[in-house]
Amino acid sequence: MAVKLNDKHLSDFIGSNEYANIQPLVNAAHEMLVNKTGAGNDFLGWRTASCNYDKEEFARIKEAAKKIQKSCDVFIVTGIGGSYLGARAVIEFLKSPRYNNLKKDTPDIYFSGCNLSSSDMKELLEICEGKDVCINVISKSGTTTETAVAFRIFRDMLESKYGKDGAAKHIFVTTDKEKGTLRSFSDKSGYETFVVPDDMGGRYSVLSAVGLLPIAVAGIDIDELMAGAEAARTELTSADISKNDSYKYAAIRNILLRKGKNVEILVGYEPYLQMFSEWWKQLFGESEGKDNRGIYPSSVIFSTDLHSLGQYIQEGQRFLFETVMSIGQPDSEIVIPNDENNIDGLNFLSGKTLYDVNSTARTATVLAHNDGGVPNIVLDIKDRSAYSVGYMIYFFWLSCAISGYMLGVNPFDQPGVEAYKKNMFALLGKPGFEDRRAELEKRLK
Ligand code: PA5
Repeated sequence: MAVKLNDKHLSDFIGSNEYANIQPLVNAAHEMLVNKTGAGNDFLGWRTASCNYDKEEFARIKEAAKKIQKSCDVFIVTGIGGSYLGARAVIEFLKSPRYNNLKKDTPDIYFSGCNLSSSDMKELLEICEGKDVCINVISKSGTTTETAVAFRIFRDMLESKYGKDGAAKHIFVTTDKEKGTLRSFSDKSGYETFVVPDDMGGRYSVLSAVGLLPIAVAGIDIDELMAGAEAARTELTSADISKNDSYKYAAIRNILLRKGKNVEILVGYEPYLQMFSEWWKQLFGESEGKDNRGIYPSSVIFSTDLHSLGQYIQEGQRFLFETVMSIGQPDSEIVIPNDENNIDGLNFLSGKTLYDVNSTARTATVLAHNDGGVPNIVLDIKDRSAYSVGYMIYFFWLSCAISGYMLGVNPFDQPGVEAYKKNMFALLGKPGFEDRRAELEKRLK
């Protein structure tokens, strides 16, 4: 198992009888998921994303990635929410948050279309000057404003650079297989296209072309990634929480929520886990936060944030619990040197690896936060590999689905995301939103 749950630091907060008491609720959620009787059951494609995928398209993704690697200095990925977070999370997890600064034979990768910032866009356009650029536009609906606006700007830039026909060879589109303006526009313009499967919502789509193309362009082994997810799929099948750590994680979250622990903090001790945490926050936040329910997902990177949020976690209001990601093996051995004069008094660390010191910081913090009344779930992750991150993705998908059903919500929709869009369209004068505009203008007077 590439992810194992350690419940040692929960014993002051959860009694063994509580695990037994919640098992029937887990069983009910399990039945809903496997029998497809729960809400949102037409969005369960993620359950078989690692085995039941389009093999022809998978091969085409690898080919397109090679083409992009050969022909481009800069690869722009345009998408928002589930249409970019997974790819960015995996690339930064396996390569680095500083991927663009590493020595490499793959293109620099930038993410756009995930905000409406003119400063960000200006910088990206400047970065592209004098470079060969390819773009992958990713939008299931094809109508998301942030993504569509960025695509319009980059298309304009590419067409000025390469001409209309030339630009078409630099544009790769991932969208619905038949619906939407982006699909019809792409077919008309001759762009190479990939499919967002009908039965996968954005936050459950990283193992489709949505995530796989950018991940492959970064030079990551997507077969390994799929193998990790497939291992999780085949191992995490029991409804019994003593045999299925993904379900146990869902059960613990629900037990803690009932005790007033409304905020979960995902903790990483590696900067490369930051974007993975962003992906996780979207997964749980968008899946569970509805009908006035849900645990608020947040994240920190320690030890950095121990010097900012650490104080609050140790001694602030007691509505928190932490889920700590512990990576089992170092991927580099940096040894702390000895100093003959010991001027800084650090010789007690001489000869230790930075990985060991970081691991000790983690153990020390878990114990301190426990003493401060913060339950700590520890997830032991085998290593920093494509296989393990594939496993983690499936592990969290599964626990999120089970946890959402236990909470009594539909973990696969996101109706609340529309509210800001409607107001924005009204205020920007989109046809069809006149009444709302009049109402909003009254409120703004
Ligand atoms: O998880 C989701 O479904 C959302 O975050 C979407 O991915 C996001 O809103 C982008 O939508 P689209 O891919 O339709 O542009």
